[in-house]
Amino acid sequence: MKHLLKLGDLTPDEVFSILNLADQLKYERKNHIEHPLLKGKKLGMIFQKSSTRTRVSFEAGMIELGGSALFLSDRDLQIGRGEPIKDTIRVLSRYLDGIMIRTFKQSDVEELAAYGSIPIINGLTDYCHPCQVLADLMTIREYKGSLKGLKLCFIGDGNNMANSLIVGGIKTGMEVAIGCPDSYRPAEDVVEWAKKNGTLTITSDIMKAAEGADVVYTDVWASMGQESEKAEREKVFKKYCVDSKLMAVAKMDAMVLHCLPAHRGEEITEEVFESHAEEIFDEAENRLHAQKAVLVKLLK
Ligand code: CP
Ligand code: NVA
Repeated sequence: MKHLLKLGDLTPDEVFSILNLADQLKYERKNHIEHPLLKGKKLGMIFQKSSTRTRVSFEAGMIELGGSALFLSDRDLQIGRGEPIKDTIRVLSRYLDGIMIRTFKQSDVEELAAYGSIPIINGLTDYCHPCQVLADLMTIREYKGSLKGLKLCFIGDGNNMANSLIVGGIKTGMEVAIGCPDSYRPAEDVVEWAKKNGTLTITSDIMKAAEGADVVYTDVWASMGQESEKAEREKVFKKYCVDSKLMAVAKMDAMVLHCLPAHRGEEITEEVFESHAEEIFDEAENRLHAQKAVLVKLLK
């Protein structure tokens, strides 16, 4: 494993190995056992979109591993003034030990990996969000004991989260069901891959998607970069809401997860959100542990 560009690049063994290390690092942190595995290492963090969790968990994670992190906003970098990404990475490769990037195009992340000589970590693109889903898998395993055979349901836009959940879910032996409008389906290459490698249902009937689910997941109707489509999306996604009626068809002990930030009253009701807040904030905490595991695998 040289980079984390998308979950599709990892073998199931590599996914489980990250999850196991994440569990170990979480245990050590809880028991005040220091683990300076990346002493002296430097991670550059390029952000072309906003972030709370990704930014703070990567920065805190590097500190806990004995290294440091540099926040690089594209407002300050020359990228924002048109310097080619392939030049930027050839320079940054000479100063740093790794790069985490949050951006729009998946091809930009692939280009960094192609031209740079240090590990590249995808901190969200329009196409996928692998770090989030590693934390999600870790959280589901903590609550359910194992992943194989569980039904993971995602309600909403067939976006970056849906794409990564399909791949992560199937690689770890889960059945995945997506409840989304017909014109907002997940990426076609992801769907094709899933059909060959596991069980994926895509339906606009959200009750059918959630029926018997062990995990119900949702995300915002309009992602970062889609602000101008907000009004249109509010109309299309109106019924794509995780509420108590939907939860009634899932398993009795079903978990609810949300990558956050959440829009209560849109993709999830206040009631469902608050009654599953413990799971959702454990999920957010696990970003730290899962990403520390990724950093150790790539930078050590
Ligand atoms: N879930 C997630 O990636 O959160 P941020 O946008 O706050 O980083
Ligand atoms: N789909 C959302 C996820 C945020 C973590 C977005 O891309 O904005």
